[in-house]
Amino acid sequence: MGKKLLLEHINEPGIQSFEVYRKKGGYASVEKALKTMKPDDVTEEVKRSGLRGRGGAGFPTGMKWSFIDKKSGKPRYLVCNADESEPGTFKDRYLMEHIPHILIEGMITSSYALGANTSYIYIRGEYMYVAQILERAIDEAYANGFLGDHILGTDYSLNLYVHVGAGAYICGEETALLESLEGKRGNPRLKPPFPAVAGLYSCPTVVNNVETIAAVVPIVNLGGDEYAKIGVGRSTGTKLISASGHINKPGVYEIELGLPVEEFIFSEEYCGGVWKERRLKAVVAGGSSVPILPAGLILTTAKGEPRLMTYESLADGGFVTGTMLGSGGFIVMDETTNIVQNLFTFTRFYRHESCGQCSPCREGTAWMEKILHRLLQGKGKKTDIDILVNAAKNIEGNTICPLGDAAAWPVAAAIRHFRKEFEEIAESTTEGKKLEIATH
Ligand SMILES: Cc1cc2nc3c(=O)[nH]c(=O)nc-3n(C[C@H](O)[C@H](O)[C@H](O)COP(=O)(O)O)c2cc1C
Repeated sequence: MGKKLLLEHINEPGIQSFEVYRKKGGYASVEKALKTMKPDDVTEEVKRSGLRGRGGAGFPTGMKWSFIDKKSGKPRYLVCNADESEPGTFKDRYLMEHIPHILIEGMITSSYALGANTSYIYIRGEYMYVAQILERAIDEAYANGFLGDHILGTDYSLNLYVHVGAGAYICGEETALLESLEGKRGNPRLKPPFPAVAGLYSCPTVVNNVETIAAVVPIVNLGGDEYAKIGVGRSTGTKLISASGHINKPGVYEIELGLPVEEFIFSEEYCGGVWKERRLKAVVAGGSSVPILPAGLILTTAKGEPRLMTYESLADGGFVTGTMLGSGGFIVMDETTNIVQNLFTFTRFYRHESCGQCSPCREGTAWMEKILHRLLQGKGKKTDIDILVNAAKNIEGNTICPLGDAAAWPVAAAIRHFRKEFEEIAESTTEGKKLEIATH
């Protein structure tokens, strides 16, 4: 059984409530931090823990916190990114829904470290009922002296607000999120300046994922060094994985980083193997934006080493034979999966969610969707495959935010690893071979 730091008490009846959460040791990190540590000590522990952002990019959290401008004299903000729109990712919802207080606790401890007296949780519109759960938890935290003025009788005060978005994937990108939080259209900003210097209302701001902020709780409780002992190399601690697709036991699992991918897919403790006794065909390991890998390459690296659930091992081989841990949205596909159809579904999503600011993303995603649709209709040509590759290449790196990359990478990877399937579809030019396309 792997160590559980975030989901340890998930099965405890009433753990949603302040009372039960507190009985299970909840809010100890706030007491420890506010009463025995200076704000910079908390940042130091987070640095020592090796924690990397759980929102997708894996940027070291302690380092991000140390970039925050503490000399500007302006207010500082912590904003929790609870937009969770990446297809295949649902771990933040699970955590907030079942153990809301761990996020509130993490927000207080992290805000203290950053010197923020006002913080926000930006949650996607579709999670309205989760927003209500968080609101209840926040009310309980205020009622028990963990939020508001002079928390636990100290000099530190914090007000925490939940802000519900309107359901746009782009608002998960941190600067689009800040625009939206300010009441504007959620268009990503040009960087620099980065949010640590000019974020919310042009003030120094840190944006962190739900899971990242929750992980600060065990880090402060255990100490950074203890936390860093879990995991492998630069992938420390535990990670929530949203497992979906053709597996026997879909769900959210907390794993110790370093777990072999094979064990994650096939052991009874986690996914329980591929369903219907079918063979594994491919995996998208970190949410729809990361490159798909065929069965052989997801289980074993090109060097022949077992692939591990770590940032480094999943990325081994770069984008030629590797992928990314991303947000931990682990989508398993069995041998019956039509890769072209799957890619069409992802691409249609990115076309729909492109904010339209940058022409390569706005036009490119639309063209990629049209070409894939044409192929699936049996009206494509073999040359379409290279046009798709070319379109993806022209989007990648040419946009203000990485939504363009997120749309381009899956196309490039699917064609790299499953080119034959694209060719077969391109060769089936008759209407009779028209494939069924799912609609919204
Ligand atoms: C198009 C797009 C969507 C994103 N969606 C999310 C999201 O839903 N949740 C999230 O935490 N990060 C998302 N990110 C990443 C954020 O921009 C940012 O890197 C993250 O919130 C930083 O938190 P972390 O350092 O704790 O990972 C998205 C990025 C892009 C480009």
